Amino acid sequence: MKIGVLTSGGDSPGMNAVIRAVVRQGIAGGHETIGFFDGFEGLIENQYIPLLSADVGGIIDRGGTILRTRRCKRFYEEANQARAAKQLADERVEGLVIIGGDGTFRGGEALHRLGVRVVGVPASIDNDLYGTDYSIGFDTALNTVIENLTKIRDTASALERVFIVEVMGRKSGAIALHAGVAGGADYIILPDRPIEIAEICESVGEGFERGKSHYLVVLAEGAGAAVDVGKEIRGCGGYDVKIMVLGHIQRGGSPSAQDRLTASILGARAVEIIAMGESGLMVGIVANQVKTVPFSDAFGRKRELNMNLYELAKVLAI
Ligand code: F6P
Repeated sequence: MKIGVLTSGGDSPGMNAVIRAVVRQGIAGGHETIGFFDGFEGLIENQYIPLLSADVGGIIDRGGTILRTRRCKRFYEEANQARAAKQLADERVEGLVIIGGDGTFRGGEALHRLGVRVVGVPASIDNDLYGTDYSIGFDTALNTVIENLTKIRDTASALERVFIVEVMGRKSGAIALHAGVAGGADYIILPDRPIEIAEICESVGEGFERGKSHYLVVLAEGAGAAVDVGKEIRGCGGYDVKIMVLGHIQRGGSPSAQDRLTASILGARAVEIIAMGESGLMVGIVANQVKTVPFSDAFGRKRELNMNLYELAKVLAI
């Protein structure tokens, strides 16, 4: 069969490794693969290229996506969804693998309802999708954050400073929580919880009294802006406070071993599932097992954070 593949939404490290797995698992199953450019934009405009084995050679270690990606607002319009479905049928594309996050799977659900056979692979640094323990790109983003925390700690210690480090994640605090623990943060601020400035100030004061030479706060962008939190903490104790917004460096770089493995496993599985005639599903990894979940659950149900980690971070920051 002819299989289409696209990457959509914010890019994440490991998307190329998924494309590679889709193409090569496709070849193993006797399928032909074409790659649509610019996410759903490429479906609407019918912009694609054939993808042969050599086309995906040497991309497993590259960040970004060779197919480029878009946040395609036009795809919310039913007329454009119908146009994409018709073009896929005209091109005799019998299956579509979509790689991305919640917005991508909303688009996938629309196509599924129009009769397109479509399976999703979770790729988002935010790790906010229900139905998978890990989204591809999350691990690499975590490694980028902790590498930067290490550097920030050096300079913070030298000058006995407080740093507020704002990390990505949209409404999710997954990056802040996991990188906070792995990076040895002194305080983690998560979305959906009030920012306790008085508590942070007290903790900063006690920390310095106990002999800390630095104080690192990791702030999820969904909780607030580092510039505002920094101003308030500066005001409460005359501390030397600096802010750092890590920004898009969290989305770049060569994917980690974990992300390449997950990408390879899920990309290949997506092709197998499409070939079996399934549709409307995201493949994910739950407790080390490959599972599927309906798109509507992937984007509709809330993925809870592991708050045991939050409690652990508090203990380990003492
Ligand atoms: O969803 C991935 C993500 O990197 C979020 O963490 C962040 O809020 C957003 O994308 C940034 O989007 P953009 O690249 O469009 O500024």
